[in-house]
Amino acid sequence: MRFDASILLLAAVASSSAALFVEPRSRRQQVTFALSPKSFRQSVAAVASSQKDLSSWVAYQSDVSFEGILANIGPDGANVVNSGVRPGVVVASPSKSYPDYFYHWIRDGAITIRALVDHYAATGDAKSKQIIDDYIASNQAVQRVSNPSGAFEGLEGLGEPKFHVDGSAFVDNWGRPQRDGPALRAITLINYIYALTNRTSSQASDYKYIYDQVIKPDLEYTSKFWAHPGFDLWEEVNGLHFFTAMVQFKALCLGEQIAEAMNDPGAAEWYRAQSIGVRGFLRAFWDDGKGHIVETLGSSRSGLDSAIILGAIHGGSESVYPLHSDSMIATLHSLVQDMRTRYKINIADMEDFNETAEDIPVSVGIGRYPEDVYAGGDKAAEVAGSDQLGNPWFLCTASVAHALYALAEHLALSDKHLVITNLTAPFYLPLIPSAVSAKDAAYIDFSSTSNALPTAVKLAFDPASKETQAIIANIVRYADGFMNVIRKHSDAEGQLSEQFDRDNGFMRGAKQLTWSFEAFWNAAKMREKTFEAIQRRREFFSMRAKL
Ligand code: NOJ
Ligand code: NOJ
Repeated sequence: MRFDASILLLAAVASSSAALFVEPRSRRQQVTFALSPKSFRQSVAAVASSQKDLSSWVAYQSDVSFEGILANIGPDGANVVNSGVRPGVVVASPSKSYPDYFYHWIRDGAITIRALVDHYAATGDAKSKQIIDDYIASNQAVQRVSNPSGAFEGLEGLGEPKFHVDGSAFVDNWGRPQRDGPALRAITLINYIYALTNRTSSQASDYKYIYDQVIKPDLEYTSKFWAHPGFDLWEEVNGLHFFTAMVQFKALCLGEQIAEAMNDPGAAEWYRAQSIGVRGFLRAFWDDGKGHIVETLGSSRSGLDSAIILGAIHGGSESVYPLHSDSMIATLHSLVQDMRTRYKINIADMEDFNETAEDIPVSVGIGRYPEDVYAGGDKAAEVAGSDQLGNPWFLCTASVAHALYALAEHLALSDKHLVITNLTAPFYLPLIPSAVSAKDAAYIDFSSTSNALPTAVKLAFDPASKETQAIIANIVRYADGFMNVIRKHSDAEGQLSEQFDRDNGFMRGAKQLTWSFEAFWNAAKMREKTFEAIQRRREFFSMRAKL
């Protein structure tokens, strides 16, 4: 049996102390964990069988999603063939009216091709590679097309958010520029170069043309314009945005590495300096008063936004707002809490919730942000007069599942105590086995704490403890709940549109949205990784028990 380094690290510190409370000693003694081993085993068995059922659907939906992605890419994807779509151009959705999404968005394209890069990295799939190469060629051309944001010379043209599917400029009014696109494209292509060097006997410098021609212009744009306002990923608000800054930060960090590999030290140094600037700037998005990250600086909105979670999925780093950070957990929790009562279908699911059958919070449909009024531009909404009411989105719901799986994976591989702070207590409390919280309800009353510091540690569980194991399992179940929401609202063929109706749950907005498929596929991959991590954790502890 082989363990990787992170698991071996566990060995060094995993001790048998049950649970450690960073609290005055006298209070510490009040807490005991009365998990009955029997009931615990039973619930594990029940969970395992429902997870098996979910797993086979996830595998199916994942395949359909991958096909859905391919179907929307030119020239011969099933949904776009013979429509003048340039090779390697990713169409946002085959819908040509109500809404017209038959365009090449730089953001949607880069995020989608990133999935193909990951697939190629894992499997060497030749078809994916061909599409990525076409994507590079078409984007090299698109970068050089003058457009309402500007020209290639002077770089401003790279901020243009969308193009026609033949690669020509879209000149109507739009929320432009959007400064996340070049960063996302650079992240995708830098990852592609690493995938190529891993899969073949080539070196990064063999792909210098990709760097010179496509990546470097995007990095130059990112490094020169990150402090300038632009439109957000939802194309509505001009300002400075968390999602945008997170992907810019990641692009610049990767940019430093790739510039070094390409023997371009001056650029490496410049990207490094700018990444440090963005890192500092990103701190401004934490709102202490609200207790969560805000998506746009100086906005009158609440600031809660699934863009924040997407920012950590596609950007950031292990030390800058990773998905498992306290700030991200607190933000995710606040967002989900808001969404619980925002849509009729969520309220109904909350009412159906059976306390005795399910002891963890209900998973619900997640929209872009609380104040959203965009109904997807479909005709039904216009006819029904409901086009000023936002709905839950598949990609936002998938991103919450993704974030929760990532948190569970992190905890499963961690050699540190599972630390619960004032900030993350509202999220974790309902996930702690009921035997613990019910028995010690008085003790675990975070509202009555004298220590108001949000970062104050309230509870900490040994990584080897049953409680940590149960909390990890509950986070996975909670994440699975969000996948189940997607399952409930997708159609029998596994098609995913952009939204599902807030009142009746039926699909709404752009049909077969490429980004919906990508988000599901990516969340499903994260789920697999999480299960592997939990399995390795189990093997580690059962081996340790035998020693
Ligand atoms: C289309 C944009 O893509 C969408 O994000 C936005 O909400 C609507 N227009 C309304 O501005
Ligand atoms: C509207 C979304 O708000 C935006 O983020 C996306 O790029 C476009 N639709 C195309 O899918």
